[in-house]
Amino acid sequence: MYKEFFGMEHTPFVRNVPVDKLYESVAMHETLARLSHAAENQLFAVVTADSGCGKSTLIRRFCEELPKNEYIVLYLSDSKLTPRWLYKGLLDQLGLEASINRGESKTKLQQQIAYIRGVQHKNVVCILDEAHLIEKETLEEFRFLLNYNYDSMSPMAIVLVGQTELWENKLKYQRYEAIRQRIEIYCSLPHLDRAETERYIQSHLDYSGCGQEIFTTKALDEIYQTSTGIPRMINRVCEKSLLYAYQQRKRLIDDHMVKYVTEHEMIRGNQF
Ligand SMILES: Nc1ncnc2c1ncn2[C@@H]1O[C@H](COP(=O)(O)OP(=O)(O)OP(=O)(O)O)[C@@H](O)[C@H]1O
Ligand SMILES: [Mg+2]
Repeated sequence: MYKEFFGMEHTPFVRNVPVDKLYESVAMHETLARLSHAAENQLFAVVTADSGCGKSTLIRRFCEELPKNEYIVLYLSDSKLTPRWLYKGLLDQLGLEASINRGESKTKLQQQIAYIRGVQHKNVVCILDEAHLIEKETLEEFRFLLNYNYDSMSPMAIVLVGQTELWENKLKYQRYEAIRQRIEIYCSLPHLDRAETERYIQSHLDYSGCGQEIFTTKALDEIYQTSTGIPRMINRVCEKSLLYAYQQRKRLIDDHMVKYVTEHEMIRGNQF
């Protein structure tokens, strides 16, 4: 709606920004490098961050960058995943049917992975998003998946992705010891700092094709404070601010406008 008013070709601050146009913070850059290393060497990696900090976005980029002729990616994001559904979800993605018996499904999966490795000469990367919601029994199952050939080698790379509580409420405790011991790479994405928040906003504006200054320095300060540097929150505040500025026919957004938008949204019960 406001695109023409601001001279934009694309809407900024949307979820489906193309992967090559994403903002890359230092933490994101390092995490991507470590995940590539995990994929190459069939390691067990864990990525945690607060909600909205960019985990799933980072995984989208990671999957896009993995060479298709070298890797097969299995991606699951299902909070109600039981061990049986875990195998069904993975087998489905490989075009195979799960058996009623969990053990048979597991064997089928392991055989298929061995085939992919040995015959197709590809590596398998299995990603489990929203892992903080997964029951212990299902997480344990990953441990068994990694137990291969008398535990002498890892048949695939596994990436568990979840909110901070995946570590704080689960993995760090003794009852998860057996899984924790197997984690070879642990990454966490922090909130963006003030400078990164500004660069993040600029990267979305660059993507939109808008060449003019839109947010004043004080507006950026305000956005940073309100959002605490969480990308999803930054998107919301910026999007609402752009809409409000358009309605007011103002091309430059200052801190008062950002404050107004934030408070206005909150009054309507939409607390970001
Ligand atoms: N590096 C980035 N570049 C551009 N936009 C981003 C980036 N990271 C996150 N975003 C934006 O922030 C939104 C939230 O990110 P994302 O969904 O990846 O968070 P999350 O950590 O997976 O959150 P949750 O734990 O709630 O699933 C995305 O829809 C995307 O628009
Ligand atoms: Mg997510």
